[in-house]
Amino acid sequence: MDHFLYRGGQLMAEDVAISEIVAETGTPVYVYSAATLLRHLKLFEDALDGLPHLVCFAVKSLGNVAVLKLLGEAGAGMDIVSGGEYARARAAGVPGERIVFSGVGKTREEMRMALEGGIRQFNVESEPELHALSDVASSLGKAAPITIRVNPDVDAKTHAKIATGKSENKFGIPIARARDVYAMAAKLPGIEVIGVDVHIGSQLTELAPFEAAFTKVAELTESLRADGHDIRRLDLGGGLGIPYERINEAPPLPFDYGALIRRTVGHLGCEIEIEPGRLVAGNAGLLVSRVTYAKSGEGRDFLILDAAMNDLVRPSMYDAHHDIIPVAEPEAGVETKPWDIVGPVCETGDTFARERELPPVAEGDFVAFRSAGAYGAVMASEYNARPLVPEVLVSGDQFAVIRRRPSYEEMIARDSIPEWL
Ligand code: LLP
Repeated sequence: MDHFLYRGGQLMAEDVAISEIVAETGTPVYVYSAATLLRHLKLFEDALDGLPHLVCFAVKSLGNVAVLKLLGEAGAGMDIVSGGEYARARAAGVPGERIVFSGVGKTREEMRMALEGGIRQFNVESEPELHALSDVASSLGKAAPITIRVNPDVDAKTHAKIATGKSENKFGIPIARARDVYAMAAKLPGIEVIGVDVHIGSQLTELAPFEAAFTKVAELTESLRADGHDIRRLDLGGGLGIPYERINEAPPLPFDYGALIRRTVGHLGCEIEIEPGRLVAGNAGLLVSRVTYAKSGEGRDFLILDAAMNDLVRPSMYDAHHDIIPVAEPEAGVETKPWDIVGPVCETGDTFARERELPPVAEGDFVAFRSAGAYGAVMASEYNARPLVPEVLVSGDQFAVIRRRPSYEEMIARDSIPEWL
């Protein structure tokens, strides 16, 4: 459930009309609902109630500092994958002891930054990374708390570009080799082994792959304990999917995911961490755009928006579906017609939807992409020299621009022309 509903004939974000927001910001613009973000975070909190746990929001899904502050103040930890995300989480006031550092390619500089600034744990993904971390931590006279990310060789049954838990993926250490790597880790200076980490992919719409992975993690935990390691924390990653196509999809609920966690690893007495991104942020955000032209082609009609693939890349990158709805509420029972909905970027891939049925829309009308809160603004670029799309946060009857649209001058000012030109 989210807080984007029609009221009084127009689409609202909580108690603010989208039309009021776009009058101030122009389009395209991302609009987030604070109540929806907090509600989704609470679903996970409730699902894990009674188990010692920390819900670490995946910053990569929606990294705006205002959003991180909102979630951090509600008690969330953060899952980060870069120095930049570490800096964002800290700028949002999240303490280091609530930040977990994931990712296959952490640099020594990033490790140093986190160790000096404070970090809850590193989720280590390879032996070379383990050695690098051991060096960096030792040189700082610190012990880096680590889990090792294991690759359980489980098919997440999701889009190939976002599946991470099969042996052919670049992520983690093959679970069959985990005991050897833990033995090696335990001997390294500057390393403190505290747990096990797993993340098998994103937008999972079934629980079975999680069950297979968590069961393997539970077995591994018992073996590692038998080997003498003090395994006290399990990071189970993120990945729970959301309904993108509202009428057809009903992915599992956080409550059932929580029950699965209890069933598979609850008996181990470990502190549980999870790293949800999409389920917290996805349906808490809209991308609002304006129809620039409605154009008739041969056998099909094109709706050309002022948003493009650089603002929301998911449809062109993953063939992802986003529901698109008019901002002015359509009359009940009104006839729809199919449109190819595209952006202005000079690529055929700049297509959001083909033959999508929409109620009557005309030039100048506003439309909203649903489920755009996660992996939307964070994946935006300035391709075609289109200024980075702005972001707005709504809470109740108030809203604030939390990232403004840069002017052309600001965009150009980052370039410099060498003296010899
Ligand atoms: N933890 C780790 C280690 C991850 O790699 C990810 C996502 C998450 C947590 C959060 O997963 P979530 O709960 O959001 O599914 N850009 C793609 C999604 C990439 C996901 C990458 N990793 C998309 O737009 O669908």
